[in-house]
This record gives sequence, C-alpha cells and structure tokens, in this order.
Amino acid sequence: MQFSERMAHIKPSATLTINAKALELKSQGVDVTSLAIGEPNFPTPAHVCDAAKQAIDEGFTRYTAVPGIPPLREAIAGYFKRAYGVDVAPDCTIASNGGKQSLYNLFAALLNDGDEVLIPSPYWVSYPDMVYLNGGVPVAVKAPASQGFKVTVEQLEAALTPKAKILVFNSPSNPTGACYSVSERDAIVKWALDRGLFIIADEIYDQLVSSPTSRRASSSGGSSTRTASPSSTALPRASP
Ligand SMILES: Cc1ncc(COP(=O)(O)O)c(C=O)c1O
Repeated sequence: MQFSERMAHIKPSATLTINAKALELKSQGVDVTSLAIGEPNFPTPAHVCDAAKQAIDEGFTRYTAVPGIPPLREAIAGYFKRAYGVDVAPDCTIASNGGKQSLYNLFAALLNDGDEVLIPSPYWVSYPDMVYLNGGVPVAVKAPASQGFKVTVEQLEAALTPKAKILVFNSPSNPTGACYSVSERDAIVKWALDRGLFIIADEIYDQLVSSPTSRRASSSGGSSTRTASPSSTALPRASP
C-alpha cells in the first residue's frame, strides 16, 4: 500500500504511546499515575447519559443538518453570549464531534499547500500533524520556562514570514498549563489581526482553572471572520 506523501510526516501519537506504556505497567502491578490522556477519573454524569438515552428512545437517530440542528446552534451561540459576552450568530457556529474534529476541519478549510501556521511551543502534540495532513507547515515559536511558557508579540513577529496564515493560540495551555493574562492575550490578538492572520483560539480548558475566565480571544475585539474558537463540551464537563 502506497500512502500519500502527507502521511509521511505523521508520527504515532506520543500521548497514546505513553498511555499504552502506563497501561502495560499497570497490568504488571506497577503503581502508575498516568498524566498522558486527559480523561476524567469519574464516569460521564448521569444527566448527560439520561439525555442521550432519552433522545435515542424518542427516535432521534436520523441524519441531521451537517452543522448541527438549529436549537443546538442557538444554544452554542447563547453559551458564548452568556459566558463571554460575545455576540455570535447561530449560523456562525458548527457542532462537531469534539475539539479535535473542529480543529482538523478548520485547518482543512483554511490551508493551501505551503501555508505556515505559527504554533507557540511547547504545544499540544496533535496540532502539527493536523497542519501537515492539510498541506500546511507548522512553525514552532519557542516559549521557554523563563517566560512562563508564554510567547511574546516580538517572538511571533520574528517568526512571521509572508507564508504565515494562521496563529494557534492555546490558553490555558496543554501541556504547560500556562494562562495568558487578558492584556497579554489582547496584544497577541491585535498583532495577529493587524498582520492579517487567522486566529485559531483553542481555549477549551478555560473552565478548568481555579479562576475560570469570562473572556476569550473572540472577546478581544477580534474580527469574527478571522477568529475561530473551537470548544469542547467533553473537557469542561470533565471538571468535577
Ligand atoms: C489543547 C487541546 N485542544 C483540543 C483538544 C481536543 O478536544 P476533544 O477531546 O474535544 O476532541 C484537546 C484534547 O486533548 C486539547 O488538549
């Protein structure tokens, strides 16, 4: 079987590799605390399971509109207004099977071959692979521990080339936990929009910190046509 050239860049998931190793050690009786996969240590809450079962029992099992049923898209828009004060029209929302699918779809929709994607590093391991799979080139911008694992506008500027198209902004960060302050984030959003970049603001962990934020990158006066805000119901709901 001849795989596509794009597949040549794709490495096995480091997270799944570590998780498999942890499971193997556990099966040998070793006491292991695995920090690999971000899965909660409790079952899905009963009201979520009940709602899913009720929907199936009521025959809600057919094809739906691809971007999501209208009441769901209205609920998503309502959530953004309630939680972050951001006005999002329901038809500017899309329901998907999680943050990962939304991110993949975004890269697929935006990238042409050779387009560069600025990714502050350390980063969540899936970003570069998703970029490669869609013909893009990930450009890591180092955010060292001495800077609290946060990049500055100056570092982003230094990494910018005419091929840059997207900035991935992940705060709170996986894996470092770094959280940008509102002023740091506003400066980065302003810089990216001034440079004509599209911002993928991956803030899916914003409710998993001791002081959950009430603002997102899309609250920073960003143009809604150039800021995408993938969200995940699974991860915030994992918060006990
Ligand atoms: C930073 C970040 N973004 C997105 C995702 C994907 O979230 P989901 O589980 O909803 O696909 C993850 C999951 O690990 C993540 O760590």
